[in-house]
Amino acid sequence: MDKNRFKVFNVVGARPNMMKMAPIMAEMRRHADLHPVLVHTGQHYDFAMSQVFLEQLNLGEPDHNLQVGSGTHHAQTAEVMRRFGELAQAERPDLIVVAGDVNSTMACALVGAKELIPVAHVESGLRSFDRTMPEEINRVVTDSVSDILFTTEASAAENLLHEGIDPNKIHFVGNVMIDSLVFALETARKSPMREQLGVGRGEYVVLTLHRPANVDDPIRLRAALEAIAKISEDLPVIFPIHPRTASRAMELRIPEMQAWNPGGKVGPRGIWTLPPASYIDFLGLVDSAAMVITDSGGIQEETTYLGVPCLTFRDNTERPITVTEGTNRLIGTDPQNLLREAQSVLAQGVRKASREYTPPGLWDGHASERIVAVVRNYLGKAGMSVSLAAGRL
Ligand code: UD1
Repeated sequence: MDKNRFKVFNVVGARPNMMKMAPIMAEMRRHADLHPVLVHTGQHYDFAMSQVFLEQLNLGEPDHNLQVGSGTHHAQTAEVMRRFGELAQAERPDLIVVAGDVNSTMACALVGAKELIPVAHVESGLRSFDRTMPEEINRVVTDSVSDILFTTEASAAENLLHEGIDPNKIHFVGNVMIDSLVFALETARKSPMREQLGVGRGEYVVLTLHRPANVDDPIRLRAALEAIAKISEDLPVIFPIHPRTASRAMELRIPEMQAWNPGGKVGPRGIWTLPPASYIDFLGLVDSAAMVITDSGGIQEETTYLGVPCLTFRDNTERPITVTEGTNRLIGTDPQNLLREAQSVLAQGVRKASREYTPPGLWDGHASERIVAVVRNYLGKAGMSVSLAAGRL
């Protein structure tokens, strides 16, 4: 192994990690003093949930795939820790970079902390203040053991300081997911997806639902989908469906909901399910949508950047800037309220004109450069202190 370069483990596990890690890997590859290593835990493993993102975001094949797969939260977390722990012990990276709030994020951060390997957390400090969300536990734990905390919006630093985190560890670098968006947007706008579906710009709604709180209970899921079926009387609803949601939603046999046949077009109304969309296709769909309804975290940010109205079907958001400065509305989980809000958005056409709209601060496509600058500075100093301690300087 090259002793003159810092070995950095960049961890991906689930789909939303990929668009955060891709620009960081690309930026690290530009610096001769860094040796970036891509580690995939295998939390997501279907082609449509993983491989297509690696390809479209130019991440390439992971250097290590731990193939952990699905399981209960504790089993999955433990298995990531076991396998990543063995790898970290064998390879002794100089830094572990984790992103977001999935189980793999927390598991790998804990390994770093226990192995005394520094950990950098990308997208730190976001808080929903809802400990029933598995992601909230992952966020709090990851931040508490991380050495470098990269934030995307001002609320994050406030939350971290409130939890007693050393301010010197916190770096406001902006939103690295927007780096990927900026990189892919032109290609996404040329995606054939809309033509294949037969929908014009602004003539459809995009829906995503996968939070356990929304999809695991059939009664709640039915009530939500029935409200969305009413919304779909005005415009067709395009629903790329997460594997977690797919079988549960289909079993409900909502008459207005049907699977899109790739050979044909969607109709003028109704909910049309699709397999999980690729990054490029999804971005293209969102960019031209009249409105997005979601319970995802990242999509609240992507719609804010694109100026597309977003209704977040949750009681809380860990991304408040998307509401205060962006196009997101936090509407709670009452299906009747969802229906009212959706009808009001469609009636008013609140889509912000790109001319007069500026995205939140440092959501500018250059977050990865700021992140890597901080990382190099940190490793440079750490390398020097190790050398000093060893009497080499
Ligand atoms: C995970 C993250 C969530 C993130 C979401 C994005 C946690 C706690 N949750 O949720 O924060 O928003 O990813 O997608 O880490 N499955 C497949 N194929 C796959 C992956 C999963 O069929 O490639 C199915 C399996 O039945 C699995 C279920 O989806 O049991 C849930 O997968 P899991 O990774 O546990 O959580 P997500 O719901 O995807």
